[in-house]
Amino acid sequence: MAEPIRVVVTGAAGQIAYSLLYMIARGEVFGKDQPLILHLLDIPPMVGVLEGVVMELADCALPLLREVVPTTDPLVGFKDVSAAFLVGAMPRKEGMERKDLLSANVKIFKVQGEALDKVAKKDVKVLVVGNPANTNALVCSNYAPSIPKENFSAMTRLDQNRAASQLANKMGVPITSVSNVIIWGNHSSTQYPDASQGTILINGEWKPIAQAVNDNAYLQGSFIETVQKRGAAVIGARKMSSAMSAAKAACDHMHDWWNGTAPGKFVSMGVFSDGSYGSPKGVVFSFPVEIKNKQWKIVDNLPITDFAKGKLNVTGTELQEEKDEAMSVLDSN
Ligand code: NAI
Repeated sequence: MAEPIRVVVTGAAGQIAYSLLYMIARGEVFGKDQPLILHLLDIPPMVGVLEGVVMELADCALPLLREVVPTTDPLVGFKDVSAAFLVGAMPRKEGMERKDLLSANVKIFKVQGEALDKVAKKDVKVLVVGNPANTNALVCSNYAPSIPKENFSAMTRLDQNRAASQLANKMGVPITSVSNVIIWGNHSSTQYPDASQGTILINGEWKPIAQAVNDNAYLQGSFIETVQKRGAAVIGARKMSSAMSAAKAACDHMHDWWNGTAPGKFVSMGVFSDGSYGSPKGVVFSFPVEIKNKQWKIVDNLPITDFAKGKLNVTGTELQEEKDEAMSVLDSN
């Protein structure tokens, strides 16, 4: 058996972590032969809850789980980690402006970036789930200059999974029959879920989704809106946010980063923009990526319609504004 690797989950006493920790410790991300030492980072008021989570992990009797390290100290939490799931964040409270939310989170992700820089492995893969995820990833990376920028990403996989699931449901096929649906831009309501490059397996044949669905009004209308507003719909129904599906998506994201994507398949990840597809350079923007040897590469040369350009522009502008606001908060501190 391989040597254990250290993996940290922040916000470890929270809702998403409650599902995520179990999935990771079962071997669903790093493989069934990879022993793990799980680091659980949260804040001091949550120490009691964290103890309960540690007890439950022990009671799961999971063969791959060699040790659990609960802590409120980022320098302990990030010590020697190979992978980091940054789930903990300051939630938006009623009446909170975007600037206030950004401001609270910028402080958290600055501290975590500095700690990663000091004590994590230099090839650590960092997945930011906590919102605003794209800009939090940017801030975190900014404070971890000794770790390559490519090692920071933000999660839009839940949006991708939601989009694929909508299409599978509409066409009456299993989820495995839907491929290459893209989420562009921000993990926010300006994201652009795009089925135009995707394919779907119908009667044994992979067809372009647009051709199979044959309903442009749907693909450019209620399909996009349903995905954009799905988080709010879950909160409306469950009175709590989408934690189980977010945990599954975080596993999918890290799994594909770790293990690679199959030839011809791509997945969506928020990564540093190089200006591809007219996006603002230097923001963390969700693109379709292919992954090999733990390195992602933006899929290039996809055809972009005027409709898509308009959507990319809206979400890119929002990310640029978030970046500018985050930077102004940092400058004033
Ligand atoms: P939650 O409120 O149940 O848990 C958050 C946990 O983070 C709490 O235990 C809290 O104490 C902890 N925390 C806060 N500040 C921290 C810090 N500085 N260091 C370590 N831990 C800290 O929230 P939940 O449902 O688990 O969601 C977590 C985040 O994920 C939220 O920001 C949410 O908006 C975001 N999210 C992102 C999604 C995406 O697709 N990118 C999807 C769903 C949720």
